[in-house]
Amino acid sequence: MQKNFPDLITLAIETSCDDTSVSVMRGRIVLSNVVSSQVDALKFGGIVPELASRAHQANMVPVVEDALVQAGVKLQDIRLIGVTYGPGLIGSLLVGLNFAKGLAYSLDIPYIGVNHIEAHMLAAFLEKPHPDFPFISLIVSGGHTMLVLAEALGRYRILGETQDDAAGECFDKVARFLNIAPENGSGMSGPMVDVRARLGDPEKIKFPRPLGNSDNFHFSFSGLKTSVLNYSKKQEQWSAQEINDMCASFQEAVVDVLISKSLRACMEHRVGSLVLSGGVAANSRLRDMLNQQAQKSDVRLFIPAKSYCTDNAAMIGLTAYLKHLEGEVSPLDLAPNPSLRLIEQRQK
Ligand code: KG4
Ligand code: ZN
Repeated sequence: MQKNFPDLITLAIETSCDDTSVSVMRGRIVLSNVVSSQVDALKFGGIVPELASRAHQANMVPVVEDALVQAGVKLQDIRLIGVTYGPGLIGSLLVGLNFAKGLAYSLDIPYIGVNHIEAHMLAAFLEKPHPDFPFISLIVSGGHTMLVLAEALGRYRILGETQDDAAGECFDKVARFLNIAPENGSGMSGPMVDVRARLGDPEKIKFPRPLGNSDNFHFSFSGLKTSVLNYSKKQEQWSAQEINDMCASFQEAVVDVLISKSLRACMEHRVGSLVLSGGVAANSRLRDMLNQQAQKSDVRLFIPAKSYCTDNAAMIGLTAYLKHLEGEVSPLDLAPNPSLRLIEQRQK
């Protein structure tokens, strides 16, 4: 195993969903992390895969240029490329992966295909202090909700995952039922629930805690989503305060289950560090409550900065860099994998 390359310049690309993101790093240090959101494509009430991939195509070169300028780095200085190859939307992944392969080939440098879920987990290593292995990772995003025991780089055990909707997806749908989703129809409405919940009473409505008392580490959010939908249909009109209360009570149910299972995973597996990551890790109630409860349970909590919790290329760059230190290189015929799992290993 090679030791360390603190000056190695990595260019990283993330296009798994609707944001085009490019980051430039020197070793583990983030020099730039540009995220371009496809607000226009979201006018249609959610992500349209075909429009998302076309927008990635249009954005790719300007976002790369922007990331290089912000980092003060020239194209010729890049020594490694990291790129998401799954999971995600096939058309979107293809744009990033093909661009990365072309660039790596033309610069005659290696590139590494990165698993997006693994990158969310390893985002905790972008900042100091960072955790040491082993740690428990709670990954909560629009596409995933899972608890993982990370034993070492590349050695992961999935302890539990959602049996239906991901937590972020549930936040987005609840925002739509309650008509508080952003005007532009953005699929990413979770932050609106967070904002409204701060003004509401989390104890007002007793929404169910699905699988809350089960002795496994799985999650289920679709029943909770239906409960909120049914509750919201009880009346034609709700006051702003009543909507705030619904948001707070719903959010509390999600946060309760996520926290109790994560801390129980730490206890049962005798692991003293917990990493929270993925877009929902930006949720203020989840961050606050987990902070309080982790302290009580003597668990060290690591939560990346919000910009490293939602989809970003810096986490892809860091993962590629760590894999590079282990001698990994991806072949030019690596295919995008829309349903890539965390523990699937690819050819070196
Ligand atoms: O990780 P991410 O950026 O993309 C995926 O890989 O899915 O996560 C996006 C998800 C969306 O569902 C979004 O609504 C949710 O994270 N999210 C939040 C908050 N910020 C983002 N959910 C609740 N509260 C927030 N503050
Ligand atoms: Zn993500």
